Amino acid sequence: MGEHVLLIGMMGAGKTTTGLAVARLMRRPFHDSDAEILARTGLTVPEIFERHGEAAFRAEERGVLASALSSGRPSVIAVAGGAIFHPDSRQRVRQGGVVVWLRARPRTLANRVGSGAGRPLLEHDPAETMARLDSYRRPVYRSLADVVVDVDGRSRQAVAETAWRCAVGWLAARSELLGDEARRLRVVDRAWP
Ligand code: S3P
Repeated sequence: MGEHVLLIGMMGAGKTTTGLAVARLMRRPFHDSDAEILARTGLTVPEIFERHGEAAFRAEERGVLASALSSGRPSVIAVAGGAIFHPDSRQRVRQGGVVVWLRARPRTLANRVGSGAGRPLLEHDPAETMARLDSYRRPVYRSLADVVVDVDGRSRQAVAETAWRCAVGWLAARSELLGDEARRLRVVDRAWP
């Protein structure tokens, strides 16, 4: 089992912002999927979708995730929203360290992504698309998460501090536990009771 902190969740959940802040707090390198795809290909997400299609984008996504996970130092990784739908990537995420799901209500996500600019999946009716994506992605995020942090109604700073506290606590607790016990360890930090 790895020592990375992996942030998962929907578009608009705040993976990049939270990841940067957690990486700073932990003094770790930060890997962000979309930024690394841009660095690797010289193309933005919409450009890849337009020129090469979604399948090519998903292949890039898998590639940057695999290389972030195999980088020598324990890192903080913002995992692309769709990356975990490939079984190999899901397995890598599961074994990579502590998986933190930034959970948000569909309405919160829709408000945050607005018109969906820069996100090709949201070109048509972003709110409806987000709700549909959320309904089938949510069970997968839930099943992968070691830590669940609610985003709704919290400031960016509060989300980052909560994610950091829970991730560090989880990693410390896991090192004290063995096998199945460690696998069942789960932290849920709700914004509301
Ligand atoms: C996607 C999420 C986006 C980007 C692409 C597809 C997804 O990243 O990779 O538009 O399928 O969830 P963010 O989660 O950073 O918006």
